[in-house]
Amino acid sequence: MKKNPVIPYAIIAVIGILLVIVVSIVGLDQQKAIEEQEKGGGEKQEQQEGATTDPAKIFESNCASCHGADLTGGVGPDLTKVGSRYSKKEIKDIIMNGKGSMMPGGLVPEPQAEALAKWLAEKK
Ligand code: HEC
Repeated sequence: MKKNPVIPYAIIAVIGILLVIVVSIVGLDQQKAIEEQEKGGGEKQEQQEGATTDPAKIFESNCASCHGADLTGGVGPDLTKVGSRYSKKEIKDIIMNGKGSMMPGGLVPEPQAEALAKWLAEKK
């Protein structure tokens, strides 16, 4: 019986194709795993940034440029006794909606505004 010379090549070709498929599936899986890891890491970081409710820190990074790191004022007014002028609710309103030349809205997200207002309302 004469051997068909094409068959060994066909087998190699089939194995090769299977190999490519297997490798790409494994590769996709790994890519997914990496993407998920990156996503997870990113979310964690965001959470950490968004989660700081330490009002002194929030003030330092969002308000101190105008009101001074020690609250004694600068471009914005002195806030060391702001709690005797405004209630917590009024301070939160100022933080969320601005006042005069203090730009309104988006300075800090609502939960941080709440923490800041509470903190500032105690400054009397
Ligand atoms: C771009 C500068 C600027 C930034 C940033 C800023 N403020 Fe002000 N703030 C002002 C100015 C100016 C006023 C005075 C507005 C007016 O009465 O016309 C003011 C007023 C206030 C008042 C009312 C004080 C008073 O006696 O009338 C409070 C409370 C206040 N700011 C809190 C904050 C807090 C909290 C932050 C950070 C989330 C902040 N501000 C960020 C400029 C700023």
